[in-house]
Parts: sequence; C-alpha cells; structure tokens
Amino acid sequence: MTRQSLVRDLLRCPRCRGEFDEWEGATSLRCRTCGSEYPVTNNVPRLSGEPYVASFGRQWNRYDVERPEEDEATFRVKTGTDASALSGQLVLDAGCGGGRYSKLVARHGARVVGVDLSSAVEKAATLCADLPNATIVQADLLNLPLVEHTFDFVFSIGVLHHTPDAREAFRQVARRVRPGGKLAVWLYRKNILPQEWINSGLRALTSRLPARVLEPLCVGLSLIGGIPIANKILNKVANFSNHPDWTLRVCDTFDWYAPRYQSHHTLDELKAWFADEGFVDIEELRPARSGRFYDWAYRNNLVIGSGVNVVGTRSR
Ligand SMILES: C[S@@+](CC[C@H](N)C(=O)[O-])C[C@H]1O[C@@H](n2cnc3c(N)ncnc32)[C@H](O)[C@@H]1O
Repeated sequence: MTRQSLVRDLLRCPRCRGEFDEWEGATSLRCRTCGSEYPVTNNVPRLSGEPYVASFGRQWNRYDVERPEEDEATFRVKTGTDASALSGQLVLDAGCGGGRYSKLVARHGARVVGVDLSSAVEKAATLCADLPNATIVQADLLNLPLVEHTFDFVFSIGVLHHTPDAREAFRQVARRVRPGGKLAVWLYRKNILPQEWINSGLRALTSRLPARVLEPLCVGLSLIGGIPIANKILNKVANFSNHPDWTLRVCDTFDWYAPRYQSHHTLDELKAWFADEGFVDIEELRPARSGRFYDWAYRNNLVIGSGVNVVGTRSR
C-alpha cells in the first residue's frame, strides 16, 4: 500500500466523506466533493485538531517507550495474535499513540494505518519513517475518516476509554473491520467501588494540574513503584506503575493521572458491545501476569489499571 493508494482507497473527508485528490508529495489534501483542505506535515495527514489529548502528545513525544521484545509479547497477549501472523494483511491501529505497535506489525509485513488524535503522531511517524507500509494519520476515532468494512485486523490497546464516548468510539472502530476480519480491544477494568471513588477523587485533581506540576508527582509515585512488596500492595489503593523499567514507570503513571477522560468497564459490557456490532467467536483474553495473589486480586476486580480484553470476528 503506497501512501497514494491509501489516500485513494481508504481515507475520506471527515466533513462530507468525499474522496481526496491524490497525495503524491502534497503538503495538503483536498476533498473532491466539498473542497475542504487538510495539511500534511511530517508525512501525516492532519484530519483533526487535538481537542482534549494534549497530555498524550506530551508523554509519547517525551518518553521513549518502544521496547521491541516486550511490545511483541504485549501485542500477542492483548490482541490474541502474533504480529508475524499479520504479514500482508491490512491492519488498523486505533489510537496508535507513539506508534510502538504500528511499527511492530509493519516490521512483520502488515500494511498498517495508525490513527491518533494527539501530537503523538509525530513520534509515531518518526518511529515508522523507514517503513513505507505504515501510514500515520491524525484523526478522531469519534469521526473516523476511513472507509467502513475494509480492514482485515483492527486493534485498539488502551484507547477507547480515553474518549468522551467509549461506546461510540467502539462502534466507529468496529465498523472498519471487514466481514470475517478480527477486532481486539483492551479497556480499563472497573474496580470495586471504594477504589473507583478514590481514583475519581484523585483524578479530578490531577487531570487539571499542569504537566510541569503533575510530572514530578508521578516521579515520586514511581519511586514507590520501585519498592518491592509495598509497590504491589499500595497500588491497590491509588494507582501507580510498578514496571521494572524507570522510564515506563513514570510514563505509565503520568498516563494514568493526566488524561481528561478515563472510563472503566466490565467484561460483560465489552462482550455485549462486540455482540451488538455483529461479532461472533467473542473471547476474553487473559493477562500474561499470574500468581496466586495476582489471580485472586484480578478475579475480584482489585487490580487498578488492569484491563478487560476481548477479541471477536465480524460476521456481517
Ligand atoms: C494510553 S494511549 C495508548 C497508545 C497506544 N495504543 C499504546 O498502547 O502505546 C491512548 C491514546 O489514545 C489517543 N486518543 C484518545 N482519544 C482519541 C480519539 N478520539 N481519537 C483518536 N485517538 C484518541 C490518545 O491521543 C493516546 O495517544
């Protein structure tokens, strides 16, 4: 898929769904139907502004979080598919952030479109610069400027719960899967009520703090995240990452406390969304992590920041 054919075959005007003129080195795209023009910079068509996702632009451009081996394993767990199995397929990374998973699947030979609303697309475009089979687009999943029923495989890891309407974002993403194609979605799990209350209270404050104030707080929490045992118990009260890698720990903690929107969901809710959108073979994907304490806490919805993760096949 060249960028030209991407524009012709897949991209549509977010205002009127019209087709674009050919891309070919252009610095803007023009809709053939309504004449709207959209800039193309750093090889990224800019089909939307970034209304509420500035914190993501900051974090993904600031922290280098690509860890090829870990990303490969995480992708397998959270999509139920080995990236190498996607070679030759048309894949949508819905909410690509800094582009670590777009790059991974493109390296394995998939034709990938990575869509994100934030300026994280700069990082994603840089990560994927040497991969002509990967195209990054700045656009809104709630008004997704891509042709429906086209992609062989669509995945969305940790994204839809950061939109103001996760259900609608799911619908938009699900509609891009072709009949017989697959969709894998990972969303934050709903925890027990006291945890939800504490978290909402904390985030009501932190999501309003400027990044220069919030970031040092996240560094502090990340120090606790490195203390053995305490890090596994205290983060059942207030979330912080206990990832062994310092950069990921700070980035993940900021990722929790900074975003404007963060909704939490149940497994039954997510499975019902798949069924309502015409998916079959709907399966839960379990986390890689296990252990007696973790399994017990996960089963009882006590692990803050853990997910509900489902894969399904579009039947119609
Ligand atoms: C936690 S990040 C996950 C990024 C990537 N999937 C990963 O795991 O590395 C969530 C991403 O969702 C993007 N996002 C939030 N709302 C969006 C929307 N309406 N349309 C497109 N992207 C959106 C944010 O900009 C952010 O990069």
